[in-house]
Amino acid sequence: MLREVGGDLALEEDWPEPTGSAVAVRAAGVNFADVLIRRGLYPQMPELPHVLGNEVAGELDGRRVLALPRAAGGYAERVEVDPQWTFTLPENASFAAGASFLTTYLTAYIPLVHQVRVTPASTVLVHAGSGGVGCAAIQLAKQRGAKVIATASSDEKRAFALGVGADEAVGYDEIDDLRVDVVIDPVGGEVFTRSLPLLNPLGAIVAIGFAGGLWSDPSVQWLVGRNAAVVGVYLGRLMKLQPQLVHESAIELLALWARDELAPVVGATFPLGEAAAAHALIETRRHVGKVVLEP
Ligand SMILES: NC(=O)c1ccc[n+]([C@@H]2O[C@H](COP(=O)([O-])OP(=O)(O)OC[C@H]3O[C@@H](n4cnc5c(N)ncnc54)[C@H](OP(=O)(O)O)[C@@H]3O)[C@@H](O)[C@H]2O)c1
Repeated sequence: MLREVGGDLALEEDWPEPTGSAVAVRAAGVNFADVLIRRGLYPQMPELPHVLGNEVAGELDGRRVLALPRAAGGYAERVEVDPQWTFTLPENASFAAGASFLTTYLTAYIPLVHQVRVTPASTVLVHAGSGGVGCAAIQLAKQRGAKVIATASSDEKRAFALGVGADEAVGYDEIDDLRVDVVIDPVGGEVFTRSLPLLNPLGAIVAIGFAGGLWSDPSVQWLVGRNAAVVGVYLGRLMKLQPQLVHESAIELLALWARDELAPVVGATFPLGEAAAAHALIETRRHVGKVVLEP
């Protein structure tokens, strides 16, 4: 439970039981948005007090499911879910992997399928390739046959990105000579600005997040001159305005996972009572893959 911006994430014993369809949470994914909400930096701040957690896996009426609870609340033993955003967990998948799947893979998949062109002839640059969205983007771009170059901030993280499937992994200070067709960018800030000149004609950069700082607006004149595009993706708003498209994408992704063409990467698990330590791991940039809480 988050009572104030910057506050601790304390366990509360006396919290109202969820009404309606409630999942017994076995794993809750920690997303970067949770960290931003706790810091008071998320553009759509919820009212406090607030139970964080917009992604869970667990049991519902004897089914093993993964779900995106609409009103968050996933850092809990039970959370109310919307049947529309509740899916069957693939056989043999762990709950931790289930809580690591929907947000990151949908965020990478929707632009790769609907907003940019990726063919086996494409080269895709994935920034922060060892992070949650980054791992998903590497796997999805490889699944579409592209060559993938990942960035990451340390040797260990670059080795991790190669293990996830990237063809090459480089530091952020080694990108300037690259030429690529698509950039997947969950980092923003200076990394976004420095990535624009890397685009081949008809290339596009997908702006996803600002983990490394807010964006500077690109020049439209420059984009016109270079035949380049900047596209944005914001999953939360798309779930509200184009739920059918997001739902179909989730079903398509689950089918890929069931065929072992994707493999969500759980980098660390923490007991629910250690949510603050899980956040600290992400804030200090020491995690790889997804961080998961287990009640
Ligand atoms: N638009 C959407 O709908 C949507 C959906 C999901 C996530 N997002 C956003 O996408 C971004 C990535 O999310 P995620 O779940 O993949 O998070 P994540 O696993 O924590 O990855 C963030 C990555 O950013 C890199 N990074 C660069 N500068 C950083 C800094 N100053 N502090 C912390 N990390 C920094 C880190 O990798 P290195 O250390 O290798 O640089 C880290 O692995 C976040 O901004 C998140 O809010 C957006």
